Amino acid sequence: MCGIVGYIGGEQAAPFLLTGLQKLEYRGYDSAGVAVYNGTGIHVVKSKGRLSVLDGILQGGEKLPGVVGIGHTRWATHGAPSDVNSHPQVSDGGKFAVVHNGIIENYLELKNHLLRRGIEFVSDTDTEVVAQLLEYYYRGDVLEAISRVTARVEGSYALGIICADCPEKVFAVRKDSPLIVGLGQGENFIASDIPAILSKTRDICRLHDKEIAVLEKDGVQFFNSDMELVEKPVERVQWDVAAAEKGGYEHFMMKEICEQPEALRKTISPRIREGKIVLDDMKLTKEQIEKINKVFIVACGTSYHVGVVAKYAFEKLLKVPMEVDVASEFRYREPILDENTLVIIISQSGETADTLAALREAKKRGARVLSIVNVVGSTIANESDDVLYTWAGPEIAVASTKAYSTQLAVIYLIVLYMAQELGHSPQAEMEAYLEDLQRLPDLAAACLADKKTIQYFASKYFNARDMYFIGRNVDYAASLEASLKLKEISYIHSEAYTGGELKHGPISLLEDGTLVIAICTYGRLFDKMMSNVREVKARGAVVLGITTRDKEESLSQQTDYQFCIPKITDFMLPSLSIIPLQLFAYYVASMKGCDIDKPRNLAKSVTVE
Ligand code: F6R
Repeated sequence: MCGIVGYIGGEQAAPFLLTGLQKLEYRGYDSAGVAVYNGTGIHVVKSKGRLSVLDGILQGGEKLPGVVGIGHTRWATHGAPSDVNSHPQVSDGGKFAVVHNGIIENYLELKNHLLRRGIEFVSDTDTEVVAQLLEYYYRGDVLEAISRVTARVEGSYALGIICADCPEKVFAVRKDSPLIVGLGQGENFIASDIPAILSKTRDICRLHDKEIAVLEKDGVQFFNSDMELVEKPVERVQWDVAAAEKGGYEHFMMKEICEQPEALRKTISPRIREGKIVLDDMKLTKEQIEKINKVFIVACGTSYHVGVVAKYAFEKLLKVPMEVDVASEFRYREPILDENTLVIIISQSGETADTLAALREAKKRGARVLSIVNVVGSTIANESDDVLYTWAGPEIAVASTKAYSTQLAVIYLIVLYMAQELGHSPQAEMEAYLEDLQRLPDLAAACLADKKTIQYFASKYFNARDMYFIGRNVDYAASLEASLKLKEISYIHSEAYTGGELKHGPISLLEDGTLVIAICTYGRLFDKMMSNVREVKARGAVVLGITTRDKEESLSQQTDYQFCIPKITDFMLPSLSIIPLQLFAYYVASMKGCDIDKPRNLAKSVTVE
């Protein structure tokens, strides 16, 4: 949700800012802008539309000389996408330029306060309030002005700031929105995320809430909220640069779909040793596991859908009461939690605002929090009692694929680890589960091998107006995710229902030729799903059925098209059934000419409520 970069050094800032923003465009892409100190003052160029528009205006940065600058790619929250609402926002007197990711919740009150003092505003953004307040409080010391502003604003922010009076410095501060500082040789950087600076440096410092960074060409100083100088540990980023590049694929989404077997291997293999699950990072003791009286899973979007699968696995193996909730609901409920409640928070980015707020709410209410996160060192990871990382590598496409798969893998690891600690399941059963978990990467690769069938099917239905996904038990959980994937990137209206719920209303939507995708991999309820398939076919639906290989023949008697996946432990089935449906969403969107990696109105990391 909005990407920020900043540069100070010996080279031209604008070309770097544009390349850095390109790596962050997944965070927002309705407008972009840069501000560069050009030797005499701050020069701002910004424009509505994709970054390529700005890049064209600046001719790759050539048109904006200067060695100090900040840049922004926007996902609008306050004020429609427009040139004037784009960032950087500049103060009335032109001294300060600011880029911002987050939301200033009390901006109206602050804006009215400044308006009453004759300060003129030009945009509808909350960010302009920060720029204006900085100049309002400025008495010759930028650091002091920043400190006064952060004491007044409420909400979330990552801010990059330059000041015309301090052309040899870039300032940065954050609260509840991510921001890193990159350390180079004779140049330093700020960014919302690592890919933006990876071509320049692997040494980074993470800012904590309300810490301020002051960057100069040859060094960086960090201050805490009391304006005391602090030392920050330097982290060496281990990523392969290629991991954040398309590597020959047309879209990040297809690359990430194809990376799933490898991501699964990296997430699972190191955690199974000598026939046992070993979770080195888990501090939760056997005694604490024994005392767990209830498990909540809280997350948003795709990560929430992982929770829906998890519910079936937890209930089956651990016989523990379980609730799954979307974070934006959970945070405003009155959930009943105590010190024996385990709250599992799932987040790819580790920065999702609602999920973070839910985590804090859970902790406030005394629960223990275990999080499943992909981004190392993210806020959710830092604030949890336990963290288990998914080793998916950077996920750049807005539509989540490999994060979903690896989050599921971590759920299986947690469930099996707890079952192992509690000694609930017979040894032979546990061995069979572990064997299946280890086979998962190869089985995922097998599902990916048959792209052609799905491509052909997509070519027949990419013009559909609506689609329905049905399933029962874990197949219902996979239906939710498959439906989300399709709608978010192809803009086709789609819904997911449990097979049994159809006749309570949605079946009235079916017409001759409506496409229904029936996920029928869960053996115990296969016959029930076949009844549902017959019901929808009787209303004229065309049905694509997905099942396991052993059921292919029975399925083909009832459905128009079939896709088969290998057989595996029941609760792991969504890890395989989702793969053809991720591919289906991709091919449909591609045939419709949609912008697959950057679907309209969406952004990768939702750091605002
Ligand atoms: C959908 C998608 C989103 C995210 C959701 C949560 O493809 O990517 O629904 O899953 O915004 O994001 P994280 O997992 O980063 O908390």
